Amino acid sequence: MIRFTETVLRDANQSLIATRLPFEKFEPILSEMDKAGYYSCEVWGGATFDVCLRFLNEDPWERLRKIREAMPNTKLQMLLRGQNILGYAHYPDDIVRRFVRASVKNGIDIIRIFDALNDVNNLKVAIEETVNSGAMASGAISYTISPVHTLDNYVKLVKEMAAMGVGSICIKDMAGLLSPKNAYDLVSAIKDAVDLPVVMHTHCTTGLAFMTYLKGVEAGADVIDTAISPFSGGTSQPATETLSFALREFGYDTGLNKESLHKIAAYFKPIRAEYLENGTLNPISLTTDTECLQYQIPGGMLSNLLSQLKMLNASDKFEEALKETPKVREDMGFPPLVTPTSQLVGNMAVQNVLAGERYKNVSSEIKAYCRGEYGKTPAPINEEVRKKILGDIKPIEGRYAETLPADTFEKAKETLGELAKNEEDVLSYIAFPPVTEKFLNARKAKEENVCTFSIEEVE
Ligand code: CO
Repeated sequence: MIRFTETVLRDANQSLIATRLPFEKFEPILSEMDKAGYYSCEVWGGATFDVCLRFLNEDPWERLRKIREAMPNTKLQMLLRGQNILGYAHYPDDIVRRFVRASVKNGIDIIRIFDALNDVNNLKVAIEETVNSGAMASGAISYTISPVHTLDNYVKLVKEMAAMGVGSICIKDMAGLLSPKNAYDLVSAIKDAVDLPVVMHTHCTTGLAFMTYLKGVEAGADVIDTAISPFSGGTSQPATETLSFALREFGYDTGLNKESLHKIAAYFKPIRAEYLENGTLNPISLTTDTECLQYQIPGGMLSNLLSQLKMLNASDKFEEALKETPKVREDMGFPPLVTPTSQLVGNMAVQNVLAGERYKNVSSEIKAYCRGEYGKTPAPINEEVRKKILGDIKPIEGRYAETLPADTFEKAKETLGELAKNEEDVLSYIAFPPVTEKFLNARKAKEENVCTFSIEEVE
């Protein structure tokens, strides 16, 4: 049997239309999705939280509770960035624990937990609290290619996550770099090493995804992440119906209800057309980009590099920046290129090229990275480069999270005063302070029936 995780409400929504689906837009189809026979639906976490507050004027917690109510029979899943929760910085352990507990309390069944550096020290608190809260922790490998990302090292990571109590292992290939051959080898190695379900997650970016899933399933993968056809392909996941069709022919039971899939696809088709029409869905996101394979750089990062150089009137340096990126990545100890390391490495490469001298202009984030604030790097950072960047600043020892203030929650609660109605409001504020404050003020004004408008809100 092969099971499916439907990503239309989270990753597909995020990858194709910058997470701009408001709750009302998908509410009518939730009851049908609840009947489709999915292993789980990924509905929350990642960028959904930030975008709800920032652009959609929605309380993300309320969204989760409403989805829970409309889908009582399906496992609801979220994506969590380990010690970063849903933001980009590290949070103290008690905040991670509170956030996990609140997520489970509001309806989450499965939390997929990953770290940009695959540092288990950044995963363990989130995993432990998920298990203690009675939900399933899915331990994710941030997949990348480098001389130190060997099968042996991945297996070592998987065993460590298994020992922490994860209920499944996810191969998270955010860039679509996982090839059919490597998928076969990696899934086989994980299956040999641990007795846990293996979940595969990839993107169609490079065009490999369907073949990669097929070979992964042949090697024993248990669950694949797919998106209903109107929101599939390109930077999103491969289509649910297509894989269900192909795998059934090979004799796999998918547990999916064909009639439901048909209704769900029919529902999302006009929504896709609407977003194409209003420009939110860029047709370029739907094409195949094989350059990522050559440079092993995620597609999103390539376009970021280009737009950054354009803003600096230095588009002619694109080739040079492209060649510099793998060198910086090597100096930085081969981090997988995923948020936030993709931004760190990309910006550093641009700075090196523009300055004409390597590591002359260094951002505070790169300094923090070299200090060890992001965790342990896959390979050691180039010692000469580290000395040049850090100067007299001492690298930290042990877990950075443990050096963070213990009163973050109390302070935030105090700052918000009566604006915060519950713990969830405080957690939203800790994750995204100005955005949440604005949201909570608007909510209060609405409740008091005061008419307010803001020019900024016109998007
Ligand atoms: Co993804």
